[in-house]
Amino acid sequence: MENVSPLITPQDIRSFQRALFRWYSQNGRDLPWRRTRDPYAILISEIMLQQTQVATVIPYYNRWLSRFPNFHALAAASETEVLHAWQGLGYYSRARNLHAAAFTISQDYAGTCPTTVEELLALPGIGRYTAHAILTFAYDRPVGIVEANTTRLLARIFNVSARIDSAPAHQAIWSHAFQLVPRRRPGEFNSALMDLGATVCLPRAPRCGICPAKPFCQATDPMALPVRKARPVRQKLKEQHTFALQGSRLLLQRCQKRWRGMWMLPALATRPARKHPLHVSTFPFTHHKVTLEIFAASSKQIPRKEQQWFKINALDALPIPSPHWRAITALLTKLGPVASRFG
Ligand code: ADE
Repeated sequence: MENVSPLITPQDIRSFQRALFRWYSQNGRDLPWRRTRDPYAILISEIMLQQTQVATVIPYYNRWLSRFPNFHALAAASETEVLHAWQGLGYYSRARNLHAAAFTISQDYAGTCPTTVEELLALPGIGRYTAHAILTFAYDRPVGIVEANTTRLLARIFNVSARIDSAPAHQAIWSHAFQLVPRRRPGEFNSALMDLGATVCLPRAPRCGICPAKPFCQATDPMALPVRKARPVRQKLKEQHTFALQGSRLLLQRCQKRWRGMWMLPALATRPARKHPLHVSTFPFTHHKVTLEIFAASSKQIPRKEQQWFKINALDALPIPSPHWRAITALLTKLGPVASRFG
């Protein structure tokens, strides 16, 4: 760590900003939500990006904007339509909150996004980061933004070695984010900070050799930062569901708790004795690793409450959680003649 300028004086901060702008003009990512200043589009992108990778988000973001182009259109959509458009992104409470936020903005703000932190924070699903992202990317306000990429970058630049989920570390990161942001082109600066974190200041293999922040970086052991508490071990869960076809119709059940409002294969309370599953797969769900086992079931059964037969060629229009959708597609493909009707 020779000749590091510790980003205290206004001159050092200005020279950091210049280095970052220069780097961004050559290396910044061209992302669809950076080609707009529409706060609605920016809100959609930020909520989608909360738990999902950029590459996955791009096609969802484009489809979403064609389907629901503004707050009024989203507010007027049904929950089924909204969940269907979100299908595959997971963490569906994000979609429900977006829908509720659109409803409030449509009713109380005549469809125009609020412009203050307080009003934005009062909307469902919008926390400090998302409120600031809207303010900086849509309205070019000089506010700090702190998400996973900028947290890692700032923790390293300022060598923040306290546990990152502790109040002092959290406050330190926010205050560094504010301290660095310039009055001119703050939105672009924040995009640059995020891109530097996402593409250079990588979690396990930071590319310090090409980093424009190197002359300012105080990290003594960048790979060890930020310091996090150990992740809880993923608990294992097994879940059993049925696959019942009646001609070209499949029996589904409306989800109640997890995936509320979507349709899944009917649940079994216990694993059937002496039966082999037709299909087994695993998927992560919050702190669990779930094994999904699907068993054949009779085509003659009477649907229980919350269950319904659906034409296979109508499944495309239903919101179905991804693990169930994958199991259904695999099983229909395996069953040959039905598959041709399905495709
Ligand atoms: N992650 C969260 N917000 C983002 C954004 N606006 N651009 C790229 N990655 C992001």
